Amino acid sequence: MCAVLKKVEEYIIRRCEEKDLPAVIDINLKTLPEHYSDYFFLSLLKELPEAFIVADYQDKIVGYIMCKIEFGFSNFRKLGFVKKGHVVSVAVLEEHRGKGIGEALMLEGMKGVLERKSDEIYLEVRASNQQAVNLYNKIGFQIKSKLRAYYRDGEDALLMSKEF
Ligand SMILES: CC(C)(COP(=O)(O)OP(=O)(O)OC[C@H]1O[C@@H](n2cnc3c(N)ncnc32)[C@H](O)[C@@H]1OP(=O)(O)O)[C@@H](O)C(=O)NCCC(=O)NCCS
Repeated sequence: MCAVLKKVEEYIIRRCEEKDLPAVIDINLKTLPEHYSDYFFLSLLKELPEAFIVADYQDKIVGYIMCKIEFGFSNFRKLGFVKKGHVVSVAVLEEHRGKGIGEALMLEGMKGVLERKSDEIYLEVRASNQQAVNLYNKIGFQIKSKLRAYYRDGEDALLMSKEF
């Protein structure tokens, strides 16, 4: 098993391995309306393993975060292009929520992105997803803009970002 990054009670926070991907994909299907191809999960794991993290509870994967690195305009008015971490997806199975796992996954994912010398990190979140917005606020993300009708069902997204 990969090295333990952090322990939250009985939960082990560690890097994702290829064998964990079916469980990660299953959590994604159960918890979020935004789904991706199996290949996309594998490609993010290959591209940025430092920031593809899972929560392991008694040898069962119960949460994950996956990120990528992008180059683009800063969300903090820095001039020129910057290197940005993008949280593509983060989720915890419902029965394991409220125990600090989501926060631990975010903090470890952010460390992974920082290891790649990124200037900032950002994500999109449904405007109605108060639990997630609270989590991101708690760890220092700021709402930068509203992306109108960003999701397929027409809901707006909030773009939230944090400078390193
Ligand atoms: C968002 C999510 C990942 C949070 O995971 P979690 O393990 O329950 O979160 P934590 O226990 O680490 O909570 C951290 C903070 O998040 C916020 N939060 C978590 N659950 C909350 C709730 N039910 N109501 C309000 N705020 C909540 C709080 O600020 C909390 O800090 P606190 O405990 O000091 O109050 C989880 O709810 C989830 O998987 N949701 C479905 C998938 C999803 O929406 N992903 C985000 C897509 S952008």
